[in-house]
Amino acid sequence: MAGAALYSGYLDAVEQAALVGDIRAVVAAAPLFSPLTPWGKPMSVRMTSAGKYGWYSDRKGYRYAPRHPDGIDWPPIPGRVLAIWRHLVSAERDPDCCLVNFYGAKARMGLHQDRDEADFRWPVLSISLGDDARFRIGGTTRGGSTESVWLRSGDVLVLGGEARLAYHGVDRIAPGTSTLLPNGGRINLTLRVVD
Ligand code: SIN
Ligand code: FE2
Repeated sequence: MAGAALYSGYLDAVEQAALVGDIRAVVAAAPLFSPLTPWGKPMSVRMTSAGKYGWYSDRKGYRYAPRHPDGIDWPPIPGRVLAIWRHLVSAERDPDCCLVNFYGAKARMGLHQDRDEADFRWPVLSISLGDDARFRIGGTTRGGSTESVWLRSGDVLVLGGEARLAYHGVDRIAPGTSTLLPNGGRINLTLRVVD
C-alpha cells in the first residue's frame, strides 16, 4: 500500500537484544498493564509506554496520558529507539510516545486506525521483536479489503502518507518462532508524534 514501507531485517540479532534490554528497563520503571477497551473488556495485549505521553485506554475511551496509571512518570524513550526514528523518519522532530506492546501466545489486536494524534503528516514507526506476527492492513475505511504480512523480529514498518490512517491489526502471533525473548512472545514498539 502507498505510504507503507517495510524494512525487513532492519535490526540484526545484536541490535535486537540491546533493544530488549532497553525495554526491560522501561518495563521495570513503568510496569505493563492491560488497558480496558471503551467497552470494558481487558485487551489481550499488555502495554506500557516511554516518552512525553503514554497511550492509554479505559471506559472513557482511547487517549494519551501524561502518566502511567500507577501515577509514575513515563520513562524517557531509549536512545537506541530514537536513533531508529531519526534515521528512518526525521532528525528534526522526535516522537512523543513509544508505546510498548507485549503479545503473549494468545494475544491479538483487532483492526483499528491510529487517530489519537494531532498531526497525521507524521508517520507511525513500528519495531517488531520476538515471535512472528501476522499483521493485517486495509484501507482508510472499515470493512474494505485487507492484506496480511508476517512481521518478524528485527523488522521495522513505517506507515505514512495514505497508509497513515489505514486500518490495521494483528491476527495472531506464531509462538516459538523466535528465541529473542526467553519466555517467548512478541514486543512491538510504536513511535508516534502526538502533539
Ligand atoms: C498497533 O497497531 O498498535 C500494534 C501493531 C503491531 O503490534 O504490530
Ligand atoms: Fe495501531
